[in-house]
Amino acid sequence: MQETLDAAPQIHVDPQFRADVLNGLKEPIPAIPARWFYDHRGSQLFDAITRLDAYYPTRVETGIMRANATAIAAAAGTGGAMVEFGAGSVTKTPLMIDALDPDHYVPIDISGDYLRDAAAGLMADHPDLAIDPIEADFTGPVDLPDEIRQMPRIGFFPGSTIGNFVPRSATDLLRHFRDILGDGAKLLIGMDRIKDVRRLIRAYDDEEGVTAAFNMNLITRINRELDGTIPDGAFAHEARWNEMLGRIEMHLVATRDVDFTVEGEPFHFAKGATIHTENSHKYGPRAARTLLLAGGWTPTHEWTDPDDDFALILAEAQPNRFAP
Ligand code: AVI
Repeated sequence: MQETLDAAPQIHVDPQFRADVLNGLKEPIPAIPARWFYDHRGSQLFDAITRLDAYYPTRVETGIMRANATAIAAAAGTGGAMVEFGAGSVTKTPLMIDALDPDHYVPIDISGDYLRDAAAGLMADHPDLAIDPIEADFTGPVDLPDEIRQMPRIGFFPGSTIGNFVPRSATDLLRHFRDILGDGAKLLIGMDRIKDVRRLIRAYDDEEGVTAAFNMNLITRINRELDGTIPDGAFAHEARWNEMLGRIEMHLVATRDVDFTVEGEPFHFAKGATIHTENSHKYGPRAARTLLLAGGWTPTHEWTDPDDDFALILAEAQPNRFAP
């Protein structure tokens, strides 16, 4: 019998990735949603970014948590259920679990692999903690386990991930968190501050080229999973500060006129044209609180670092009160 030894390996392609790339490249302002950065290699590169000197958010937010663990626990309360939106960071999650001492921990993430790793890592150190992972996209419907419905609930959304959503979607997401967690719940959320533009650019265009590799990995993924023919070197990484919208934008900029195909469909980019791949919004103190209020969360406490580079905000889903 003939062995199919040299058959091409089967790659599972998410149909949404295919649709987002093909549609996104045809937009008047070509753009691909940032969530597609995170294949296996992209997740490794993001991990490397969080350890860079230039990428201050992870280090500063962790420092805020360490320095204020007791105050955060006093304000947020202990026990109950902690619901993390995203699989959990190896440093921040244990720090907050130690501080808040929840009875249940419910991480919600689209990747089952990450959830299993996060749960395994925590179980050894917290044998009494009930861990109920939910494999789901937290922007969509989420059913919390019945046991935690009667408990105090706190949502945990660190890392300034809210900044990757344009304010309109960020507001929708915050309202969605409120619907998931219910009246009376709390939310502990990290938001990056507006600061010196040179520092912001350095954080998203580091000298080591790790963020550039993270951005360019999207091209590798398109070529691998969608039979793309984007030539090496045809696009370069660029991080821009958009002053009007208060955000860092990442783009892939065509270094020359270039023609390529994706799943057989032809595309042409003139030199200098870009594919917009990520937004990372930064918020001053007032804007951060207004965003939370618009999303149905009343800010009650805020912790920052001495340079006010990053804020960790505690908010509450208070009953709606429209009139004074
Ligand atoms: C995941 N997110 C909060 C990061 C950020 O800072 O916006 C993603 C990132 N992109 C480039 N560097 C880091």
